[in-house]
Amino acid sequence: MFHLRQFIYSILLAFALYSSIQAQANPPISSRPTSPFSIALETLQNQIQYTFQDAELLRRAMTHASYSGENNRALSVLGEKVIEGSVSLQLLSKNIDISPKDLNRVFVELSSNVVTSCAADGDRLGLQKIIRVSRKTNSSAPAVVCGAFRAMFGAIAIDKSSLDSAGKVFLNIHGKGMEKYMAMW
Ligand SMILES: *[C@@H]1O[C@H](CO)[C@@H](O)[C@H](O)[C@H]1NC(C)=O
Repeated sequence: MFHLRQFIYSILLAFALYSSIQAQANPPISSRPTSPFSIALETLQNQIQYTFQDAELLRRAMTHASYSGENNRALSVLGEKVIEGSVSLQLLSKNIDISPKDLNRVFVELSSNVVTSCAADGDRLGLQKIIRVSRKTNSSAPAVVCGAFRAMFGAIAIDKSSLDSAGKVFLNIHGKGMEKYMAMW
């Protein structure tokens, strides 16, 4: 009888230990601590004045290939098309006779000009402090910041199922740079 009681106690004890370990491994969502990364993503959404329905898309946009296989590379390609599309639309609406050469020159400026490029836009938003990279990668490198900046618009396009929505967020952020282009033609 004594042995049986001890046996039952040890089973109960083992079970209690097991559940407490399980509880630590999978804390309920409400008590999950908010990480600095999550807080940064909240702030970023306020800055760009766009709130993601699926915040996972923004997490991915802010994840460099050096950090994870689930990264922003493809989103960044889509984002670049979004930017080029919305800039083309603006410029051709203003001047249907713009030459393809001039249009392409704007795209080159958007990727490489020190003041108006995606890296400068990304820096202004502080993406270099948000993007997740491996320890060996410099998160301030222009290619890294640019990739994250573009990926943000790829992520919005998917979140909204709309290239136009993403283009509008880009024009809002890029604002000043665009005015310069609009004045050129
Ligand atoms: C990281 O990149 C930035 C921008 O190119 C540069 O200014 C900085 O010196 C780099 N930092 C390191 C540790 O290489």
